[in-house]
Formats: sequence, C-alpha cells, structure tokens
Amino acid sequence: MREWSRISPSMEPGSRLLIRGGRVANADYSRTADVYVEDGVIRNVGPSLDVPGGTRVLDARGKLVIPGGIDPHTHMQLPFMGTRSIDDFHLGTRAAVAGGTTMVLDFALPVRGESLLDAYRRWRSWADPKVCCDYSLHVGVTWWSPQVGEEMAELTKHHGVNSFKIFMAYKDVFMLRDPEMCAAIRHCKALGGLVLVHAENGDMVSEGVKEVLACGVTGPEGHTLSRPAELEAEATGRAVAIASQAGCPLYVVHVMSHEAADVVTAARKKGQIVFGEALAAGLGVDGTHCWHKDWRHAAAYVMSPPIRPDPSTPAHLMDLLANDGLSVTATDNCTFTGEQKALGKDDFSKIPNGVNGLEDRLSVVWEKGVYSGKMDENRFVAVTSTTAAKIFNLYPRKGHIAVGSDADIVIWDPHMTRTISAKTHHHAVDFNIFEGMECHGVPLVTVAGGRVVCENGQLFVQPGAGKYIPRTCFGDFLYQRVRQMDIVRVNQHVGVCRQPYSGPVVSVP
Ligand code: URP
Ligand code: ZN
Ligand code: ZN
Repeated sequence: MREWSRISPSMEPGSRLLIRGGRVANADYSRTADVYVEDGVIRNVGPSLDVPGGTRVLDARGKLVIPGGIDPHTHMQLPFMGTRSIDDFHLGTRAAVAGGTTMVLDFALPVRGESLLDAYRRWRSWADPKVCCDYSLHVGVTWWSPQVGEEMAELTKHHGVNSFKIFMAYKDVFMLRDPEMCAAIRHCKALGGLVLVHAENGDMVSEGVKEVLACGVTGPEGHTLSRPAELEAEATGRAVAIASQAGCPLYVVHVMSHEAADVVTAARKKGQIVFGEALAAGLGVDGTHCWHKDWRHAAAYVMSPPIRPDPSTPAHLMDLLANDGLSVTATDNCTFTGEQKALGKDDFSKIPNGVNGLEDRLSVVWEKGVYSGKMDENRFVAVTSTTAAKIFNLYPRKGHIAVGSDADIVIWDPHMTRTISAKTHHHAVDFNIFEGMECHGVPLVTVAGGRVVCENGQLFVQPGAGKYIPRTCFGDFLYQRVRQMDIVRVNQHVGVCRQPYSGPVVSVP
C-alpha cells in the first residue's frame, strides 16, 4: 500500500479551477469544452472560458473529462463473519478517489433486533470523520417488526435515506423470510423508497454448505459449490415477483450469474421497474480462482453470491450491461486480509465473504466494456456514475457535468495503460483480485467537491473532507412510473357487474 496523502494547496474554500479543453463526456453526449469550478460547484461549461486571475488551470486537451464515479455498493469497516473489513472509511475512500470514484454509498447494517436508527448513527460516527469523498448510506432491514417500519419512516423523513437493503441469504444473521420481506417491500413502497436485495436462497445455501462439507470439501471451492447459480436465479425471480406485486421498484445488488442476469433482463423487458447491478469482480475475473492450489489466493475470491466459475460469465454480464439488461456497476468492496480470510482455513463457510474493486472499477469497466468495443464513452459514464445518481435520487447534483452540479470530475486518459497490483494499490488489503490485469483507461486527475484529490498518482486527501449526502424519497426517475403504474393497476382491478347470487347455499355443520 502506498502512503502519500497530503494536503493540496487547492483545498481552501473558494478555490477556483479550470479544466481546459477536454472532451466533456456525460451520459447523453460529449463535446469539447472548458469546465470552470468555484467553491466545489461547476459554474460554467463552454468553449474558451474567461476565468478570474488566480484560477488553477488543469490541461485536459486530448483527454476525456467525465463525472466522478459513483460506487453504489461498498462495505467499509463492516463488522462481518467474526471480523471487520479492513478498508475503513478513510483508506477505502482514499482508494476510491485514486481510481476516479468520488462518491460511495455504503450500508448501515443493524444486527438482528437492533434499532435501525442506532445502526445509522453508528455508521455516521464511523464515516463522517474519515471520508475523503462524499458518501451516503443505505440501511439494512435485517429483521422485521412495527418498530422497524417506524424507523424506516424516520430515516426517510429526517436522515436522507431512500434505499433499504434486504437479504434473502445469510440465514440467522441478516436473512428475512418471505412474509417479512413482503412487509418490508410494501412499506418501502409506501415511503417512496427503493428496495435493494441480496438475492440467494438462504435456506438452500445452508443445506448446500452441509452437503459439500459432508463430502469432505473444506477449501474455498466449497463456497462456490454450495451456492450454485440456480439459487441466485430462483431468489432473484422471487424478489422480482414480490416487488412486482407490491408495485415497488427493485434494485438487485451484485448480479453474478448468467441465470440471475437473465431474470433481471426479462423483468425489465416486461416493463418492471427493476435494476441489476454488475460488480467489477463479476465483469473482470471468473470464479475458477477459487480452485487455485494456493489457499490464500483461492480464499481471496470468496464472496457471495460467488464469482461464477463459468469463464463466459464476465462477457455475458458485460453484454447485458452494454445493452441495458443490467443498469449500473458497483464493487461490493468488502476487503479482508489473508489473516482474516484464514478464519475459514478449515471450513469454507467461515471464510469472510468479500473482495476489493473500489479503486479499479473504472479501469476494469473501461477495459472490458469500452476497449473491447461493447460500449461507448457515454454508456461508460452512465454505468459508472449517472444511472446510479438517477436511481438513488442524486441527479443532477451528482453524476453529471453541468452548471450547478457538484464538482466531482475526473480527467481520464483513454489511451494510457496501467497494470493492477496489490503492490501499488491504495487499499488496506494485501491482495488484489485483478492482479496483473493490464487496463487501458487511467484516471489522471480526480477532483472531489472542487478539490484536486489525486493527480498523476499522488493523493491529496483529507479525512473528513467528504460530506454525507442526504437523499429524498419519491424521486421522479423511479416514482413517475410507479405512480402511473399504480393507477393502471387499480383501473385493472374492476369486478364484474352481476346480480347477487340468490340460489341455495349448502349448510355447513
Ligand atoms: O460477499 C459479500 N458480498 N460480502 C459483503 C456482504 C454482502 O453480501 O453484500
Ligand atoms: Zn449482499
Ligand atoms: Zn454487499
């Protein structure tokens, strides 16, 4: 891990920045323009801008200027499986900006029976003093009761939470049963929120674990064998059906298999408001690594749902991402060192689940998506930033380069290459699942909140400089359609006009 954080001279409030002559690429179109930033906000975009004296100028000629990446799925310092993920909010967001990501959405996950508000406050107390870029929080609904419902309402009204995650896996830890899941989804809809779902059949996974262990398989490959793709696809279909009945928008996190991705795509084709999230891990590597002879190497790839061993899966996920079957990319960054992973050295079901990706997501998606010819620069911006901003009701403040948007900007060199390695990455973890991958597409400069936080590999971050970004419910991107679909549904529920039945009725003893 490199250690070179220091304060940049451009961090004073009121600082001015001109990004000169780059190709400004938003999700809708690209054009050559200057971008002028003052006090953390984009003040002007246009050709040959005149700017006040003392403005720092960054030359972006021949480069792309794109909205900073938004990673909608991370787990910094998550207490999980007997330990805590090693990237905390400082090191994790530092790695994020090194890779061109300027906002993360993390998860406050209460333990069963714990107040959701307490969990939310705890995560805020961990994150606020440490974050080097802006962030927001989803909250987990890990158990169900009327109190949970009331707290969800409180979180939406007073704490800027508009998204709740439910788990169909992690039995006896986070998992909800179908009736609880139904209640949580209906309630979320009433609040104008979005449900995120971890879709795996948790009961069948726990049976699978027993079966695989009974066969004498204790290594990391047992993790993959015990939770096959059909358990992910089945749960995805169930979540889609329940959300459809509730009329609630649904976001399926970490779609890892052909089968589950096809379920999401089919639901979208039918007009359901459902979004599928691909991970850098699922797009960049395949799960055959879990069969590696070196235990530590194999364990590094253990996450849930598993990275699928079928080598055609990453390309399939990328094809769907390029063509809107899947909608966004994230990382599920949840890193554990070799020593932490070793909690499961004799039993794969005890290996802490999680992989890296936060620093490398943009480069991996550029390499596998744009360099491969599957998507253009605008789709790249959509799947790494803009669509997440829209779904989570952050747009156009985030995910967009326009007057009035936050100055979260990356100068991106599409031709430069870099080779990913744990030796040079900024994560706290001692392994990188993309080790040795050569990627075209390198972030040259990252600007977060109007500050240059990374330039040519040098970091200028300040813990606590990022802000918590509250989000409101009933965002138009989701709820315009939800409202209209509700009207259509109610109109379809029309009974038949008929005379009352007047014949005999059998008597019941
Ligand atoms: O393996 C994973 N995905 N770890 C993080 C927790 C989760 O399920 O998102
Ligand atoms: Zn999950
Ligand atoms: Zn996760």
